[in-house]
Amino acid sequence: MNDIQEVKDTLATKPQHLTDSVHVFAPATVANVVCGFDVLGFAVNEPGDEVIMRLTNKPGITISKITGDEGRLPLNPAKNTVSVSVEHYLKSIDRTDIGVDIELHKKMPIGSGLGSSSASTVAGLFAIKTLLGDDTDPSTLLPFAMKGEEMACGHGHADNVAPALLGGFVLIRSYEPLDVVRLPHPENLWCAIVFPDVDVPTREARQIIRNKINMKDAVTQWGNIAGLVSGLFMQDIDLIGRSMKDILVEPVRSMLIPDFYEMRQMAMDMGAVSFGISGSGPSVFAFTRDEETAKLITNKLRNHLTGIKIGSYGYVSTINDAGPRVMC
Ligand code: HSE
Repeated sequence: MNDIQEVKDTLATKPQHLTDSVHVFAPATVANVVCGFDVLGFAVNEPGDEVIMRLTNKPGITISKITGDEGRLPLNPAKNTVSVSVEHYLKSIDRTDIGVDIELHKKMPIGSGLGSSSASTVAGLFAIKTLLGDDTDPSTLLPFAMKGEEMACGHGHADNVAPALLGGFVLIRSYEPLDVVRLPHPENLWCAIVFPDVDVPTREARQIIRNKINMKDAVTQWGNIAGLVSGLFMQDIDLIGRSMKDILVEPVRSMLIPDFYEMRQMAMDMGAVSFGISGSGPSVFAFTRDEETAKLITNKLRNHLTGIKIGSYGYVSTINDAGPRVMC
């Protein structure tokens, strides 16, 4: 991982700025990946959030517009995760002389368990990095993105922000010191995601899980995490499927998700490789071996939710290896 001094050195050799405005997309993410609480996550192709950032003449950060949030997110730059993380980045490179204006376009549901705040924060950080011509490795931005996560839900976990920023499947090997590892994955792994439209704030979903576990459960869990990581390296989809079991967090959090076990049974009966909670929920996801099965599962689960009078959104994607991208 780069050190911030490398960013400063790189910027010292650049013209003041290369462009005045940039439009960035950053992807949604599936954190935990069932057995890897706080240590595993992957990015998907859709949904995701967009940030339009413009350089201004007045030092400081403003947020001129937020769309798609139903008025839920603050325009005050001191309270918004996007501006706060951009401010931390600018301070760290001694560039508080810069003025930027942010437009945030939420293209995914808030509080969905799909890394909504991470997608916004990463889009903002990638935008300022691009505006300044900082072409160092994006992993340098990770600590700033984690600050945004801490503000959003009270804990600076990296299993959403790291895959949103780096793309692909990511392991947080260690938090102190931060050590993030990109993992390989089978090309033909598809992901069906369904967001049941009920509110499960991450902050609360973290408070209900137990913080002490017994050795027998720990052994089961770390066997599964190692099995999943091995399956990813070996391109062994059966091993991936049988390793994606969570005996620590899922039994508690599943209570917040309507018909979680019924939905799991439906997905597995339809040929899913695995099924579980995305991040802290309420979104659920299934891995499949092909797009068709992922689409059928998404439709089936959404129809089931409609039948119990719960609205939903569905997405079908492969794993997004690219991470954030400049749209124009
Ligand atoms: N690892 C985090 C959690 C992800 O499960 O609380 C939040 O989306």
